[in-house]
Amino acid sequence: MQIRLAVISNAGGSGKTTLSVHLAYELAKRKYNVALLDLDPQGSLTLFCGLNQPEPEQTLAQVLKDKFDGNWPLTPCWSRHTDKVTVCQGGMILTQTADELVLHKRGAYLLGDCLTDYPLIQDVIIFDCPATLGPLPLMALAAATHMIIPVQLEPKSIQGAAHLLEWYYFHCKHLRLNPSPEILGFVPNQYDAKRSTHRQMLAALPEQLREMNIQSFPPIRESAEFVNASGQGLPLHIYRPNHPAKDDFKEIISSVVALARKPKTSKKNK
Ligand SMILES: Nc1ncnc2c1ncn2[C@@H]1O[C@H](COP(=O)(O)OP(=O)(O)OP(=O)(O)O)[C@@H](O)[C@H]1O
Ligand SMILES: [Mg+2]
Repeated sequence: MQIRLAVISNAGGSGKTTLSVHLAYELAKRKYNVALLDLDPQGSLTLFCGLNQPEPEQTLAQVLKDKFDGNWPLTPCWSRHTDKVTVCQGGMILTQTADELVLHKRGAYLLGDCLTDYPLIQDVIIFDCPATLGPLPLMALAAATHMIIPVQLEPKSIQGAAHLLEWYYFHCKHLRLNPSPEILGFVPNQYDAKRSTHRQMLAALPEQLREMNIQSFPPIRESAEFVNASGQGLPLHIYRPNHPAKDDFKEIISSVVALARKPKTSKKNK
C-alpha cells in the first residue's frame, strides 16, 4: 500500500525535518520511491535537501490552488546518490495558503483531495509539518495513513506531545477520519546517554505510551554531525557514511517497510 506518513510535533526543533529526510533516504536505498512534501512555511526541506529556493509556482502552495492541473512540482534531490527521492518544496507562500485554507470549503481535506484526484505514484509520501498545530498539519492529518512524532527528552517537549495527542484524537473524530491515521510511534531525538534526565525520560516514555497502545522507537542520538549534514543539504548517510548515528533509524525504517509491503486492502480490514 502507499504510505502517507505525517511527521508531526507541536514543538519547534524536535527533529521533524531531520527525521523526514533520513527516512526518505533510507527508504530510497531500499528501492522505495519517496516524495517529500514540505508543509512548512520555513521551507526547511529546501535547505536539508540541498535545493534552490523555489518560485511560488514550484511549491506545494500551487498544488493546493483550485486551478491545480495535476502537474506536481517535484524536484529530485541527492541525485548523485539516488533517483528515488523527490521534493515538493514549501516556503513563505504557505502562510498565505494556510490563511486561505481556513476559508476553503474543503479546508482540512484539500491535500487528501489532491492526492485522490492526482495521485502520486511514489510508494511513500512524507509530510514534513510545521511546529504549530494550525491548518497545514491538520490537512496532513486528514491526508495521512500514518503519523510519527519526534520528541526531545525534556519536559516541555513531552508535555507538548501530550497536547498533540489530544489534538490528534479530537480532530480524527471531528473530521470523521475513517480510518484515522495510525500513530506509528514516538521517536525520542537528540538523546544524550550521558545526561541522567535523558536516560530517565527515555525509560519512562514506553510506560507513558503503553496505555494508548503507542510505541516508542529507539532514540536518535544527539550528534553535531546532523547539523553539519543538514547544512550541506545531505542526510548523514551521505555526509558521514560511517557515522554510527545513521543506524538509529533502522527500527523505524523496518516498520515503514513492513507497512509498505502490506497489500492495499489490509488496513481497511483491520
Ligand atoms: N539527533 C540530533 N542531534 C543533533 N542535532 C540534531 C538532531 N536532530 C536534529 N538536529 C538539529 O536540530 C535542529 C532542529 O532539527 P529539525 O529542523 O529537524 O527540527 P524540526 O522539528 O523540523 O524544527 P521546526 O519545528 O523548526 O520545523 C536542526 O539544526 C537539526 O540539524
Ligand atoms: Mg522542520
